Amino acid sequence: MTDAIKRVGVMTSGGDAPGMNAALRAVVRSCEYYGIECVAIRGGYQGLIEEDLITMGARSVKNIINRGGTVIKTARSKEFRTEEGRVKAAKVLEKNKIDALVVIGGDGSFTGGLKLYEEHNIPFIGVPGTIDNDIFGTDFTIGYDTALNTALQCIDKIRDTATSHNRVFFVEVMGRDAGFIALNTGIASGAQDILIPEQKDSLESLFKSLEVSHKSGKTSSIVVVSEGEELGGVYDLAKATQEKFIDYDIRVTVLGHVQRGGDPSCADRVLASRLGVAAVEGLREGRNAVMAGIRSGKVVYTPIAEAIKKHNEIDLELIKIAEILAI
Ligand code: F6P
Repeated sequence: MTDAIKRVGVMTSGGDAPGMNAALRAVVRSCEYYGIECVAIRGGYQGLIEEDLITMGARSVKNIINRGGTVIKTARSKEFRTEEGRVKAAKVLEKNKIDALVVIGGDGSFTGGLKLYEEHNIPFIGVPGTIDNDIFGTDFTIGYDTALNTALQCIDKIRDTATSHNRVFFVEVMGRDAGFIALNTGIASGAQDILIPEQKDSLESLFKSLEVSHKSGKTSSIVVVSEGEELGGVYDLAKATQEKFIDYDIRVTVLGHVQRGGDPSCADRVLASRLGVAAVEGLREGRNAVMAGIRSGKVVYTPIAEAIKKHNEIDLELIKIAEILAI
């Protein structure tokens, strides 16, 4: 156990995710528990450059475990991507005697933390917070479970109108480079087809799936498309399908940022609480440039370089399940 860490800075960075507040609360309260001072950096790395800091205590994080978004704001900072920006950030940390950072965010945010560590030797631990679930080193990222449930509720509602009007709906869900949300909400909503970047899709197989469904007596269908799908955007796919099947009544819904908001689910609050505590305990144990994650129910620390480089693998069995059940 090290006493070297006396003052920790915590920030949320990149896209907000439900459960970030619960993670912040866990970091702040475990710092207090272990007698470490804690300072929140508002607005991610940009806030760090601008010295937007607030001293935190156990009571500063009351009533936030249940709230979506992030009360300390987040940002994607262009300035921090430059060497000069990082020099400014390091000076702010030195001036405020901050010994280590906890960064709650996705792989872009971890890349920033790693650079700061490599160039200025500032210890940091990452906590995976993104709805995309695309980070290696943890079975689930904070926000993913809530986003799944939000997207699923929306698709269920779309199904009502699809069924009533005998329509084919193309629904785009989030996931910049990853199909976790699409694949899982697709299965859970009974989608006819699911298009994700991890799988090589073709218009022919999409058309075939819709044709088989139509011939088997289905009067409506839902196609869930990940925003990262390589075959094309949801509007292009809908257009191509309409040209092929002129009789189909086709509609498009892009769920967008609605998936990032809302109260975090129980699973996300528990995950965030565990990882926030693990981050502070990791720093106390002298860990550095690692990400705290949970694999098979246990807290694990993965080198940040690995967490950034590798990607969470999609379970290919789920793709087969989706195909079998779309019959
Ligand atoms: O990384 C999380 C995510 O929600 C992606 O799924 C999406 O592509 C992106 O962020 C959208 O980011 P922005 O906040 O810049 O619109």
